[in-house]
Amino acid sequence: MAVQERELPANEVLLEVKDLRTQFFTEQGVVKAVDGVSFTIKKGKVLGIVGESGCGKSITALSIMRLLPEPRGKIVSGTITFYPPEGGSVDITRLDRHSAEMRRIRGRHIAMIFQEPMTSLNPVHTIGDQIIEAIQLHQDVDKETARKRAIEVLNQVDIPHPERRINEYPHQMSGGQRQRAMIAMALSCYPSILIADEPTTALDVTIQAKILRNMRDLQRQYGMAIMLITHDLGVIGQMADEVLVMYVGRKVEQADVRELFLNPLHPYTQGLFRSIPLIGLKGKKLVPIAGSVPSPYNLPPGCYFAPRCPRAMDICRQEAPAEYEVEPGHFVSCWLYK
Ligand SMILES: Nc1ncnc2c1ncn2[C@@H]1O[C@H](COP(=O)(O)OP(=O)(O)OP(=O)(O)O)[C@@H](O)[C@H]1O
Ligand SMILES: [Mg+2]
Repeated sequence: MAVQERELPANEVLLEVKDLRTQFFTEQGVVKAVDGVSFTIKKGKVLGIVGESGCGKSITALSIMRLLPEPRGKIVSGTITFYPPEGGSVDITRLDRHSAEMRRIRGRHIAMIFQEPMTSLNPVHTIGDQIIEAIQLHQDVDKETARKRAIEVLNQVDIPHPERRINEYPHQMSGGQRQRAMIAMALSCYPSILIADEPTTALDVTIQAKILRNMRDLQRQYGMAIMLITHDLGVIGQMADEVLVMYVGRKVEQADVRELFLNPLHPYTQGLFRSIPLIGLKGKKLVPIAGSVPSPYNLPPGCYFAPRCPRAMDICRQEAPAEYEVEPGHFVSCWLYK
C-alpha cells in the first residue's frame, strides 16, 4: 500500500540527550535511575538500547516523553533537545509536561510503544476509536479520513480484516494483535521518532520476527527514527544501526552495531554476549554474568560493574571511569581503555 511520506527535517539529528539525570525520591532513599546519559537519535536510524533489568532503559524513554510519575520521579539535570520538522529546537526538560507544546510533541512527533500494551490502550473504547482519536488530536482531518487512515495502519501492521477488527475492543484481540494495534496507533500520526520499549518481548518468536520486520519496513518507508529498547541482543543485531549499552543508569558502551558485535569492549558487554545464544555460536557454552545488579540504594564506589567484573583493577573500585573513544564512534567507559 502506498504511504504518503512526511517531510522530515534536513537536520540529521532529531533528538539530542545530554548528561540526563533522572531520579526517584523514595522512602528508602534516592534512586539514580538515569545517571548522566548522553546520546542522539538520528533521522532514519535505529538506536538500540540494551542492558539488564533495572538499568534505566524505560526511565530514559519516559524522561523523553515527560511521562515520569512526577514529582516522585523527575529529571534533575541535563537537556533533551528536540528538533521539530518545522525548524528550531526545544528543550523538552524545560517544558511543562501538561503543556500544549509537550502534548503536541508527544504523539505527533515522538510516539511511544510501551512495554505493556494495556498502558496505552483503553479497555472501554474500540481499537478504531482510539486510533481515530489519536489521528484527529494531532492532524486536522475529518472523521472519515481518520477512519481510512486507521484501517490503513492496521493493515500495515498485519492485522487481518482491519475494516472489521477496527470495531473490536482490546480484550477481543490476542496479545500479539494488541501489541500490533498499539504499534499502529503510534504510527498513525507519522511520528519522526518512535520509541519502542520491549515491543515484542511478550510475544512468541514467529510473531516477534514478523512484527520486527514490519517495524523495520515501516521505518524505512517513513524515514522515521526508532529508539529500540530491549534486553535481547538478537533483536538488536536484527534491527539496530547503533547501540547503547546501559548498566545501572549509566552508559557503559556505544558503537555502530557491526562494530559492537565484532568488537565488544566493555567487560559487561562481553558478558552479555557470552550469556545469550546467538546464531553462529551454536554449541558454545553460555556463561551467565556472575553476581547480580547492585541495589540502587547501595551502589559501590567507582565503576558500578567492578564487583562483577572479571578484569576489575584497584582503580575500578575507587573511581568511576571517564568515557574513551577507542575507535572512531566506538565509546567505552572502562579503565581498561584509558
Ligand atoms: N516508580 C518508581 N519508583 C522508584 N524507583 C523506580 C520507579 N520506576 C523505576 N524505578 C527504578 O529506576 C531504575 C530504572 O528502572 P527502569 O524501569 O528504567 O529499568 P529498565 O532498564 O527499563 O528494566 P526492565 O528491563 O526490567 O524493563 C530501577 O532501579 C528501578 O527500580
Ligand atoms: Mg523497562
